Amino acid sequence: MADKPEELLAEAEALLTGAASEADIEAVRIRFLGKKGALTAILRSMGSLSPEERKELGLKANAVRDRIEVLIEEKKSGASATAQAQRFQAEKLDVTEPGRAFPRGTRHLITQTIDEISRIFMQLGYSVTEGPEVETVFYNFDALNAAPNHPSRDLTDTFYITEDILLRTQTSPVQIRTLQSTKPPIKVIAPGRCFRTDTPDATHSPMFHQVEGLLVDEGVTMADLKGTLDTFAKRMFGEDVTTKFRPHFFPFTEPSAEMDMSCFVCGGKGCRVCKGSGWIEILGCGMVHPNVLKVGGIDTERYTGFAFGMGVERIAMLKHGVDDIRHFYENDVRFMKQFG
Ligand code: DAH
Repeated sequence: MADKPEELLAEAEALLTGAASEADIEAVRIRFLGKKGALTAILRSMGSLSPEERKELGLKANAVRDRIEVLIEEKKSGASATAQAQRFQAEKLDVTEPGRAFPRGTRHLITQTIDEISRIFMQLGYSVTEGPEVETVFYNFDALNAAPNHPSRDLTDTFYITEDILLRTQTSPVQIRTLQSTKPPIKVIAPGRCFRTDTPDATHSPMFHQVEGLLVDEGVTMADLKGTLDTFAKRMFGEDVTTKFRPHFFPFTEPSAEMDMSCFVCGGKGCRVCKGSGWIEILGCGMVHPNVLKVGGIDTERYTGFAFGMGVERIAMLKHGVDDIRHFYENDVRFMKQFG
């Protein structure tokens, strides 16, 4: 004969007290109340008893079953409350905790300088365009009127990819692309990367940036060029700077010039920044050569134009007192952060 119901109850109570998880509790239920459980066995075995015995045992067994069920329910809700409390503890979120600082980067000084130059020319009515960094010999040299033996074509200056394809050495090829794709009046600047086989030092880098400018319209003269670039220098470096133009040579302009501005640091007296001369060279410029206009399909009887090109690194270094061009490419956050 199986254990007595009250013994089973005591046993179940003891097991439930020790049960720690919902799985433990379920194991107790199966052990006593399951199809093959101990209490179920008692109820099944009653067939062999006398009616009185059967009644007595039946009442007891049913009472014990009810009691175990109640205990299990109580334990279960306790267990799930504990589990929930544990989860709440583990997932606790303090919504009053101050947020963690998320460090934001800064725009690179070269980007900032290009944006500043672009903004000034946009105020003067220019639009901003771009051209490919991988160029053809035609756009980078031939169409820009560079003589076949021009030294800049040299393998020692230019990164050639094939005989006809190279990394542009200047942004000037964008002039040709613009002349070919648009009709006058043309008024664009073209910022971008350029490449030359220079060995890196404090003022040279094999990759650097230029901003090209091109204006083509009827009746454009050197006076327009001077007025425009003088305005640019003043907006970029301060209203006090003055400019002067020195004759120079570029294949794609005639006449050509370099523009110097009075030193914005010493006002022209001579200092470290202007190397004692009072003047700082900031860009190359000139009247667009008729050969260049022709390649671009422009009627040279009707239109004239001027062009200019400046080094972005040089302007950024001057303006912000950066003493070594390599700072721009090392991306040391201590450097970058100074220009946030
Ligand atoms: N492309 C020249 C250079 O890399 C810069 C330049 C000079 C551009 C005169 C021009 C210009 O458009 O008119 O040295």
